[in-house]
Amino acid sequence: MSLLRLEHIGRTYDMGHVQVQALHDVSMSVERGEMVAILGPSGSGKTTMMSIIGCLDRPTQGRYELDGTDVGSLNDGALARIRSRTIGFVFQSYNLLPGTSAVDNVATPLLYQGVPRRERVKRATAELERLGLGHRLRHEPTELSGGEQQRVALARALVTQPALVLADEPTGNLAVHQGLEVLKLFQDLHDAGHTIILITHNPEVAAVAQRSVHLLDGAVVDGELAA
Ligand SMILES: Nc1ncnc2c1ncn2[C@@H]1O[C@H](COP(=O)(O)OP(=O)(O)OP(=O)(O)O)[C@@H](O)[C@H]1O
Ligand SMILES: [Mg+2]
Repeated sequence: MSLLRLEHIGRTYDMGHVQVQALHDVSMSVERGEMVAILGPSGSGKTTMMSIIGCLDRPTQGRYELDGTDVGSLNDGALARIRSRTIGFVFQSYNLLPGTSAVDNVATPLLYQGVPRRERVKRATAELERLGLGHRLRHEPTELSGGEQQRVALARALVTQPALVLADEPTGNLAVHQGLEVLKLFQDLHDAGHTIILITHNPEVAAVAQRSVHLLDGAVVDGELAA
C-alpha cells in the first residue's frame, strides 16, 4: 500500500469576488521509502500541495489518503493527530523557537505527544548527535549558522520518527555549501529508509530525489515540459 495517494485533488481559494484555483486535478502517490521532489516555479502550487499533503489544509476537490486513512473524513482534532503522528516538517525559514536551546527545540514535538521530560531530552539529544550537532545542544538559534539551524529543524522533524518527512524549500535560505550539506543529509536519511518529499523550485535540488513531480499553474505536467 502506498504511504500516500492523491486522487484528482483540487484546491480553490475563495476570495469572495474571485476564485483562485491553486491546484487542479492533481493525482500522485508516494511509496514508503521513496524520495520524491515536487518541482515547480513560483506560484505553481507547491506550498498549497505541501499544506494538503501535510494535513495543514484540506483539498476542496478530490480524495487524499495518508497511511491508509481517508483524510477528508477527519475532523480537525483527528487531522492534527494524524499530522503529529505521521509527518515531520522542514521549512525554508527553519521556524525554530527563538531563545530556546537546540535540544529543547528538537524536543518540542515530543511534548505535544505527552512524552516525559527526561525521555524527550534523551531522544532529542540522540537525534542532534545523529545529525552531527552533539556539540551544539545548548546553543540557541541565533548562536547557530543557517546550515546548523536547518539541521536542528531536521532533527526536530525526525524526533517523532514520522512516516514522512515533508520539506518546503529546505535549502532556500542557505549558502550553496550549506545547502549541499543539508541535501546530503536528506540523501543519508533516504538511504536509511525514510520517506521524503522535497518541495523546491530548483531543478538542482530536485535532482537529489529519485523522481520529480512537476507542477505548473496548479497541475501536474509531464516532466520534460516543465524542465
Ligand atoms: N491563502 C490564499 N488565498 C488565495 N490565493 C492563494 C492563497 N495561497 C496561495 N494562493 C495562490 O495560489 C497559487 C499557488 O500558491 P502557492 O503558494 O502554492 O505557490 P508556490 O508554488 O508555493 O509558490 P512559491 O514558489 O512562490 O512559494 C498562487 O497563485 C497564489 O497566489
Ligand atoms: Mg511556496
